[in-house]
Amino acid sequence: MANQWLGLTTVINEGANLTKDTDGLVDKPLDQPLLTTEARSPLRTEVAIAMTLVIVVLAVILWLLRPPLDLYTQSVLNLSGDPVQGRSIFVMNCVACHGEWANGKVGPNLHGVSDRKSDAKLVHQVVSGETPPMPQFQPSPQDMADLLSYLKQL
Ligand code: HEC
Repeated sequence: MANQWLGLTTVINEGANLTKDTDGLVDKPLDQPLLTTEARSPLRTEVAIAMTLVIVVLAVILWLLRPPLDLYTQSVLNLSGDPVQGRSIFVMNCVACHGEWANGKVGPNLHGVSDRKSDAKLVHQVVSGETPPMPQFQPSPQDMADLLSYLKQL
């Protein structure tokens, strides 16, 4: 047992010598640590704080530069919708997939969908056609506003 440990130590030591000897890449002997632990940790804290600040600032900048809503979505969101009207648009266009009471069939249950998706995302879902088999709808802004108000009260 003791011999095995000795053997292992020798292998490790040889490995360490090898890394130190690599041709000129390491120009100082690594016997002494470059920085002591006491000297390093406050520096690391400062670097971590600085990086966090940079990330926060970048996030704020990205948020400020977020793409503006397209004109269609803007006009939908500026209109006030009628959920009763929205319900009849829903019955005509959506129940085949989302079910008579939006409980889900081919398409998902839409109750509480406005907790998961912003108004702009809901409009996008209806008009984009990005998630087949759901088709791309092209309601007038007022129809879309009505539909949106119905979806939001589900
Ligand atoms: C041909 C079937 C079909 C029709 C018609 C349809 N949908 Fe969908 N819908 C889907 C499917 C499938 C999904 C899931 C898409 C995905 O995320 O992959 C979906 C997703 C959605 C979502 C997002 C649900 C979520 O949980 O994020 C909304 C909102 C929605 N539909 C609204 C509507 C409205 C409003 C109409 C009518 C104007 C409509 N859909 C018509 C099939 C349909």
